[in-house]
Amino acid sequence: MARRALITGITGQDGSYLAEHLLREGYEVWGLVRGQANPRVPRVRRLLQDVRLVRGDLLDQGSLISAVEKAQPDEVYNLGAISFVPMSWEQAELTGEVTGMGVLRVLEAIRVCSGITAARRSPAGQIRFYQASSSEMFGQVRETPQTERTPFHPRSPYGVAKAYGHFLTQNYRESYGMFAVSGILFNHESPRRGAEFVTRKVSLGVARIKLGMASELRLGNLEARRDWGFAGDFVRAMHLMLSAAEPEDYVIGTGRTHSVRELVEAAFGAAGLDWERHVVCDSSLHRPAEVDLLCADPKKARTQLGWEPTVSFEDLVAMMVEADLRLLADGRDPEQDNPSWP
Ligand code: NAP
Ligand code: GDD
Repeated sequence: MARRALITGITGQDGSYLAEHLLREGYEVWGLVRGQANPRVPRVRRLLQDVRLVRGDLLDQGSLISAVEKAQPDEVYNLGAISFVPMSWEQAELTGEVTGMGVLRVLEAIRVCSGITAARRSPAGQIRFYQASSSEMFGQVRETPQTERTPFHPRSPYGVAKAYGHFLTQNYRESYGMFAVSGILFNHESPRRGAEFVTRKVSLGVARIKLGMASELRLGNLEARRDWGFAGDFVRAMHLMLSAAEPEDYVIGTGRTHSVRELVEAAFGAAGLDWERHVVCDSSLHRPAEVDLLCADPKKARTQLGWEPTVSFEDLVAMMVEADLRLLADGRDPEQDNPSWP
């Protein structure tokens, strides 16, 4: 029998890459989708044809229990979240409910469906659980690079909600003996990245300027530094974590950090453009509290999981710019009609 995986957040960037990876590994893949007319569902149905969809919402405990009962998964990947950091200041309560309490609801669905109680710990052949934790939890970093032992100091309601989900996952592992792990993933990008995140905003901006569809690109803080990797590499790490002999948390990143300014230089350079002629700094795009510097130490993942990133920062930026040039030149809609989807 094929192993079964249930993915929340199947309509997002990581959900698509993880589904493809697990299908290639021979899994039966189920994806949780929300809403009665979610505009992203037709895209998933069209492009990930072998994925089975089940309705549910991270805000609705009963729907998650039903989804677990229906999919009968061996593995659950909780990728669903409100994931755009600025939105977490605008809708802090909703972010807490979806990104934080949503983790509790998924863990409870697994616990209830598995008949686990304080007296009856997790059985053999238990459902394995992956939580999408984030380097945003490190926030105002206490040390660089950041490891699995670096303390958290989140700087956004999103980071705080992720820290709650992270500790709760650890707690369910310790309280009930569940195979529940968190991947502390640093920023990972791709041509499928949402247009609101800075890498995609820049690659789309460059493509529009190159094709004469725009003349300027407005950005916020150019000095922030991130450890940017390729999403296709990072989903392999999620699967490796759930395939390991012991449930443990891992930092996943490239170990190299670049500023937004360097990202901009590389992206405009990839299209043969001079960024200083087009980029406008807009202080309204600055955040109430910024995460200035993120840089991973992925040694544990390398030595224990054998995980390595394969795409460099420079190749990632070039890949995204080229994909957006093709997309816009073909007259396609970046949100609805992205040919970089499978
Ligand atoms: P994404 O593209 O923003 O996808 C988020 C997903 O969450 C979407 O499928 C969305 O579904 C779903 N979702 C939102 N609200 C929901 C709800 N109430 N119930 C069920 N699903 C809901 O994010 P991503 O980049 O793929 O990231 C995947 C996960 O990794 C997220 O948890 C994110 O916080 C975390 N993470 C990402 C990175 C990164 O750099 N990408 C780094 C560290 C951690 P709809 O289509 O219905 O809105
Ligand atoms: N989005 C955006 N838009 N960011 C900008 C802009 C802009 O116009 N100008 C500068 N930036 C800076 C932000 O201030 C931030 O320092 C950096 O670019 C990266 O912003 P995002 O791409 O929005 O990502 P993020 O680091 O806030 O969060 C992403 O990575 C986290 C992991 O560290 C998201 O994917 C989170 O969900 C994820 O957990």
